[in-house]
Amino acid sequence: MPDIRAFVFDAYGTLFDVHSVVAACREVTSDPEALSREWRAKQLEYTWLRALMGRYEDFWEVTGSALRFALKRLKIAASEEQVNRFMAAYLSLQAFPEVSETLKTLHPRFPLAILSNGSPRMLQAAVQSSGLHPYLQHVLSVDTPKTYKPNPAVYDLAPKALGLAKETIAFVSSNSFDVIGAKAFGFQVVWCNRAKAPLDEMGITPDFTVARLDEIPKALGL
Ligand code: 2OP
Repeated sequence: MPDIRAFVFDAYGTLFDVHSVVAACREVTSDPEALSREWRAKQLEYTWLRALMGRYEDFWEVTGSALRFALKRLKIAASEEQVNRFMAAYLSLQAFPEVSETLKTLHPRFPLAILSNGSPRMLQAAVQSSGLHPYLQHVLSVDTPKTYKPNPAVYDLAPKALGLAKETIAFVSSNSFDVIGAKAFGFQVVWCNRAKAPLDEMGITPDFTVARLDEIPKALGL
């Protein structure tokens, strides 16, 4: 059995389904999935650009800029009021169906935390609306180091907050770039590969791979 003393979860795409904004986007396009995909891809790209340029803006601002670009790119007209409504959907994201049960199972045995690109306000809103708050000891945001994943300064928030060596922390993410960044930092890493996607070719691989979070206890022999 691996020596694991805590679990740290990525938020968007891992605990919270970012494509649950699709319903809100349906009012301006017949292909809301395409808008949601473009929005998410740009959102991440903007975090990497801002981190590299040393031009941090919080994730709410980045998410808004990414939405405006996605609308322009897909030639979708949306009023300011509609943009605000789509953004608001980010504050009440749904958790994936198995998330609550999984955290409930792990929670008595391990401290649990979130470590995310999200701004504190966004994360608090999503944690509250999904009812996950009773299980989480820490909700850690990149807004402290003011840069984005996969900068090691971000991952370093978790061992500091938990008071544990990074090798004893299991970091769980469904985002391939985050899995690789977390492994490069030195966590034990679980890739929740919901989409059965290929892993990026960086020569760095996760320690465990699951398709859903509720497979974690068995996969890790806990
Ligand atoms: C997060 O930090 C990468 O979206 C991902 O929550």
